[in-house]
Amino acid sequence: MYAISIREPGGPEVLEWVEHPDPEPGPGEVIVEVVASAVNRADILQRQGKYPPPKGASEIPGLECSGRVAATGSGVADWAVGDTVCALLAGGGYAERVAVPAAQLLPVPDGVSLTDAGGLPEVACTVWSNLAMTGQLRSGETLLVHGGTGGIGTHAIQVGKAMGARVIATAGSPERLQTCLDLGADAAIDYHDDLPSEVAKATDDRGVDVILDNMGASGLKANLAALAVGGRLVIIGLMGGAKTEINLGTLLSRRLSVGATTLRGREVGGPDGKGAIVAAVRGDLWPLVDQGLVRPVVAERIPVAEAARAHARLDEGGVVGKLVLVVREEQDVHTEDS
Ligand SMILES: NC(=O)c1ccc[n+]([C@@H]2O[C@H](COP(=O)([O-])OP(=O)(O)OC[C@H]3O[C@@H](n4cnc5c(N)ncnc54)[C@H](OP(=O)(O)O)[C@@H]3O)[C@@H](O)[C@H]2O)c1
Repeated sequence: MYAISIREPGGPEVLEWVEHPDPEPGPGEVIVEVVASAVNRADILQRQGKYPPPKGASEIPGLECSGRVAATGSGVADWAVGDTVCALLAGGGYAERVAVPAAQLLPVPDGVSLTDAGGLPEVACTVWSNLAMTGQLRSGETLLVHGGTGGIGTHAIQVGKAMGARVIATAGSPERLQTCLDLGADAAIDYHDDLPSEVAKATDDRGVDVILDNMGASGLKANLAALAVGGRLVIIGLMGGAKTEINLGTLLSRRLSVGATTLRGREVGGPDGKGAIVAAVRGDLWPLVDQGLVRPVVAERIPVAEAARAHARLDEGGVVGKLVLVVREEQDVHTEDS
């Protein structure tokens, strides 16, 4: 099969579409013939040599895909050859075929093309596990989504609204603030402005209940100041660094909590494993997608052999939603922007 190799750590030009051995299904795994994958920020870090794949995972980049089941390993009862699926991966999505634990497969939601489904599992599993599970977001609460126009942010705004929360999003330009509002955010804040005072204005001085944070260290102090009493900060990205100081007194007096999670390195099994997250997404989030309350936001569909161009676009910034990498052309893309 053909797949993307990272020739050496470096810029987008190190990505090459070259021949690889075909994957074989292990026990409990299926082989997916890939229709589409998508670019995630972690792929950029992996390409730069800063984020090696977890032990046992494929060296080929790609944390998600859509496609058709081409073969099943022993012990797989719920999926059959020919099923259309999308999947959360530990790697290997930028390829014609990938082996994936059956517990990480999802059906393609109603109204979503098989191609665009290739960009859904990673954002869906990240957003659902962090808002519903770690952040314990409840209907009627206020959610702050940082980076509201990014792959994660565009999804989190919609999921937060569908969960019954009031949603405030941050972005870096007037056009992108408008995009957040168009996606359903109730208010939008320029991330160059003073966050605590803007949040205070937007919440009658109360603060927000949950923050989904992509920045880490650079935003920690402001995020804690923007939380309401009992608020939960959930850090999923370190685009603003990993090390900073924290005044623990702030947490004690206002009963704040800080959580931080990653998806990729988790085990498949267990109560916090990928299988449990995928099951929760299928049971609780997929019905919201089926109803059209949450839609994939696709910035561009790019042939996978041009993955270098896709990485260069994400490197430049300003992408709204996801860059989908098309591995096999389908006649199924029927979204408004196509
Ligand atoms: N922990 C996990 O399991 C997990 C899983 C998936 C992703 N992530 C992480 O989540 C983060 C977002 O991922 P993504 O795929 O959505 O990336 P993305 O599509 O590249 O989006 C990044 C976003 O960050 C925004 N941003 C830039 N500077 C900012 C600032 N100072 N304050 C607030 N926002 C700022 C950008 O906004 P503008 O375009 O307006 O500048 C953009 O919307 C990344 O750090 C990624 O590694 C973590």
